[in-house]
Amino acid sequence: MKSIYRNSLVGLLAFISIVFMAADFPVWEVPSTANDVQNPVANDKIAIEEGASLFKTQCTACHGLEGKGNGAIPSADLTSKAFQDQTDGAIFHKLAEGRGQMPSFKALDENSRWKIIHFLRTLGGDQVQVVKKNAKLFLTPYDNEGGINKIIVNVKEQLDDGKLVPAAEAKVGIYVKRYFGLLPIGGTRHYTDASGNVLVDFPADIPGDEAGNLTLVAKVEDLGLNPIEVSSKVDWGIPLPPNNWENERALWKTNKYVPYWVIISILFFTLGTWAGIGYVLNLIRKIKKVGDVVS
Ligand code: HEC
Repeated sequence: MKSIYRNSLVGLLAFISIVFMAADFPVWEVPSTANDVQNPVANDKIAIEEGASLFKTQCTACHGLEGKGNGAIPSADLTSKAFQDQTDGAIFHKLAEGRGQMPSFKALDENSRWKIIHFLRTLGGDQVQVVKKNAKLFLTPYDNEGGINKIIVNVKEQLDDGKLVPAAEAKVGIYVKRYFGLLPIGGTRHYTDASGNVLVDFPADIPGDEAGNLTLVAKVEDLGLNPIEVSSKVDWGIPLPPNNWENERALWKTNKYVPYWVIISILFFTLGTWAGIGYVLNLIRKIKKVGDVVS
C-alpha cells in the first residue's frame, strides 16, 4: 500500500517539473561566429512592417500576439530583456536551426528572417512604445466607364491643431469583402506616395452579387498610425447567378444541402466509434473471465 503513495508522489513531482519545464527553457547557446553576423537588411519602417506581418502569420500561434510566449504552445518570451540582450546574429541562428517545439525557419528566405528580427526589436520592454498618430482615410472608387476601374486611397495625418497633411509612406490594405474575410486587391503591400495616395487597378474578374455589387474596403495598417477602416459599395463585380450560393451543398450547411461526403464521413466515424467501444467492452469481459479462473 505504501508504494502506491510513493509512486503517486513521484508521479506528481514528475508532472510538476514537466509543467515548469514547459514555461522555462534551458539556455540556448549559439556558436560565437553566429553572434557576430550582422543584419544586412536596412532597419526602416517598411522592413519592420513586413517583419510584423510575417510575425503575425508565422509566429503568433506559439509566441502570442505580443510575443510574450503565451500562444497555444508555451514558448519563449521575446519581449524579455534576456532575449533582447542577444545579437541579431544569435536570433538569426536560432530561427534557422530551431529547437524542440520551435521550428526551423530555413524555408523562409533570409531577408524575410532578418526583417522579422527588426520587428522583434520593437517588442523589447525598454523600447519606447510607438505613439500612434491620428489618421484620416479616404476611399474613392473611380469608375472608368468600360475601361479599367481604379481605387484611389488617400491617407492624411491629423495634426494637433486639427489640420490635415498627407501621410507619405503609410501602409494601407485594399480589399474586397467576401463571405469569410477580405480578399486583397493588387497585392498586400501598398504604401502611400508623397501626396498620401495609393492608386490600384481593380481586376476585371472579381465576382459580385447578382447585380455585380461588391464592397471595397480600405484600412490603414501602418504601425505609426491609428488603425482605421472605410468601405464603399461599387457595381464592378461579375454578376453571379442568383441563389447559386444557397442551393449548393457546402460544408457550412446544416440542412438538406449538406455535402454527401460529410454525411458519409459522419456515418463512418459513428459506426467506427461504436465498433471500437464494442471491441473494448469485449476485451474487458475476457479479462474478467481470466480473473475468475485465477481466483
Ligand atoms: C510551433 C510553435 C512555435 C512557432 C510557430 C514559433 N516558435 Fe519560436 N519558439 C518556440 C518554442 C517552444 C521556443 C523555446 C525553444 C527552446 O528554447 O528550446 C521558441 C524559441 C524561440 C526563440 C529563441 C528565444 C531565446 O530565448 O533566445 C526565438 C528567437 C523564436 N522562438 C522566434 C520565433 C519566430 C520569429 C517565429 C516565427 C517566424 C517563431 N519563433 C515561431 C515555439 C515556436
